[in-house]
Amino acid sequence: MTEKPSRDRQKSSIATLKGLLPFLMPYKKQFVLAGIALLLAAGSTLAIPYAFKQMIDLGFGAAGEQSTTHIDLYFLALFGVASVLAIATAARFYMVSWLGERVTADLRSAVYRHVVTQSPEFFETTQTGEVLSRLTTDTTLIQTLVGTSISMALRNTLLFVGGLVMLFVTSVKLSSIIIVMLAAVVLPIVLFGRRVRALSRDSQDRVADASALAGEILNAMPTVQAFTHEKEEASRFGASIERAFSAAMRRIRARSMLTMMAILLVFGAIVFVLWLGAHAVIQGRMTAGELGQFILYATIVAGAIGALSEVLGEAQRAAGAAERLLELLAVRSPIQSPMHPVSLPPRTAQGASLSLRHLGFHYPSRPQSAALSDLTLDIGAGETVAIVGPSGAGKTTLFQLLLRFYDPQHGSILLDGVDIRQLDLHTLREAIGVVPQDTIIFSANAMENIRYGRSDASDDEVIAAAKQAAAHEFIERLPEGYRSFLGERGVRLSGGQRQRIAIARALLKNPPLLLLDEATSALDAESERLVQAALEAAMVGRTTLVIAHRLATVQRADRIIVMEHGRIIESGTHASLVERGGLYASLAALQFSQA
Ligand SMILES: Nc1ncnc2c1ncn2[C@@H]1O[C@H](COP(=O)(O)OP(=O)(O)OP(=O)(O)O)[C@@H](O)[C@H]1O
Ligand SMILES: [Mg+2]
Repeated sequence: MTEKPSRDRQKSSIATLKGLLPFLMPYKKQFVLAGIALLLAAGSTLAIPYAFKQMIDLGFGAAGEQSTTHIDLYFLALFGVASVLAIATAARFYMVSWLGERVTADLRSAVYRHVVTQSPEFFETTQTGEVLSRLTTDTTLIQTLVGTSISMALRNTLLFVGGLVMLFVTSVKLSSIIIVMLAAVVLPIVLFGRRVRALSRDSQDRVADASALAGEILNAMPTVQAFTHEKEEASRFGASIERAFSAAMRRIRARSMLTMMAILLVFGAIVFVLWLGAHAVIQGRMTAGELGQFILYATIVAGAIGALSEVLGEAQRAAGAAERLLELLAVRSPIQSPMHPVSLPPRTAQGASLSLRHLGFHYPSRPQSAALSDLTLDIGAGETVAIVGPSGAGKTTLFQLLLRFYDPQHGSILLDGVDIRQLDLHTLREAIGVVPQDTIIFSANAMENIRYGRSDASDDEVIAAAKQAAAHEFIERLPEGYRSFLGERGVRLSGGQRQRIAIARALLKNPPLLLLDEATSALDAESERLVQAALEAAMVGRTTLVIAHRLATVQRADRIIVMEHGRIIESGTHASLVERGGLYASLAALQFSQA
């Protein structure tokens, strides 16, 4: 539904298209070549009626005195012009289509490359569906523009001007008549054509609505079936498809009318002028060939006018698309690497030290409520710190700030004594390993999924990491071992198995600072034991922050931090905190009793 407003903006100013120039500049040579082919093709199109006249008047008309060689020559010339037209047209089509495809490919890559560098803030406000639609639909409009519309516009302008000049050269009187006729004929066709275009856009929108609906429902099949909503969903989709059908029928009816009208009017006008011309020929004021030539030029001029109006509509649509794409390209992520990044001190055997100074932060979308306030915490190299607290306390938020997905509004974060805002983003994030609450598994095999942690790792290194993460055994038991495809979003793995893949990934990366967001979902005893062992292995030789939901994790930590409402309210060891009888003691009594 969010697409609606952007569709309405499709009538943008054509001047917006100037923004696309940087994408066209690299292909100047190809544009010149296409232009030459275009000129040749337009020239030969304009030459054909003249050649035709020569053939009629001199080939047929003057038979008798002329020798057959002369006749042969005129026919040969006509065929020659047609050959030039054929070759030049094919060359123009090839060059221009190539340009359309090339520029679109460049534009798609540029937009995607830009979008993947955006901070989470961007994805909170922009729907992925919208980005996808810009990458596909909008770029397709640009492709039509570069690949056909520009050359259509040039070609038809040339034909229009050339044809008009030739018309007047042939017969000033008939030309004046036909100009009036053409205006009378072309105008209603253009206006009606606009209506057809609007209807066809409407029809496309209805189809898009139907497929958006289908997309949403197909992704939620288990829920649909569990609530036995199959019939409702099927009829909802059916109704949507019927709306698309009605829209298509409106377009088809209008289009049929247009076809009839266009043929009737154009032929009517031509027949009328032909009739006038025929009288002129009978009275000897014109030759038959001149009349034929005249009719052909008139057809060319009429065709050019129709095509130009078509092109104008397309250019307008492309301008809308260009505006949205350029808008997307202009978005600057608020999180940027500094101009002169500082480098981290060399890595020590224990891991990295971390210092949070008076952090204050609210999400950009919620300026009223602080997610973290005045949070100060020092963590030594090699320390394991468990963070506990009720849901919504700000634990995951803290991790987001450490990874610099957002910048805090107050205070600073120092990694090994360096403010993370002074580090290159890649340097910072390369120093941090993350095992998130819910693991993302890519549709690839087990080997590639673990190698996501470090792209240049060898197979042996991947297997070593899997062994450490207690993932080796279950991977070996998969039908094709490490080469087994894990399914889209990892649907072919259990929750515990997905987690161990994530841990193996983090271990392979081997970062000095590890952030673990323990899954809240319950695992069976065996998976729990294996994941626990994997985590233990992961913590060796590095600094670890773990958002803990399990007693075993909490007990092993050097220190426990208790968070509530974005603040640290208690800290200490398990025993000391239980003794204190505060929030931790009650959380522990509730949450960890069964563990
Ligand atoms: N992207 C976001 N935009 C706006 N507010 C957010 C966003 N993410 C989280 N919040 C809010 O910030 C607060 C802290 O959320 P956070 O995810 O850090 O909680 P948490 O301690 O990790 O909770 P849980 O244990 O349930 O995972 C919550 O009130 C939440 O609603
Ligand atoms: Mg969380």
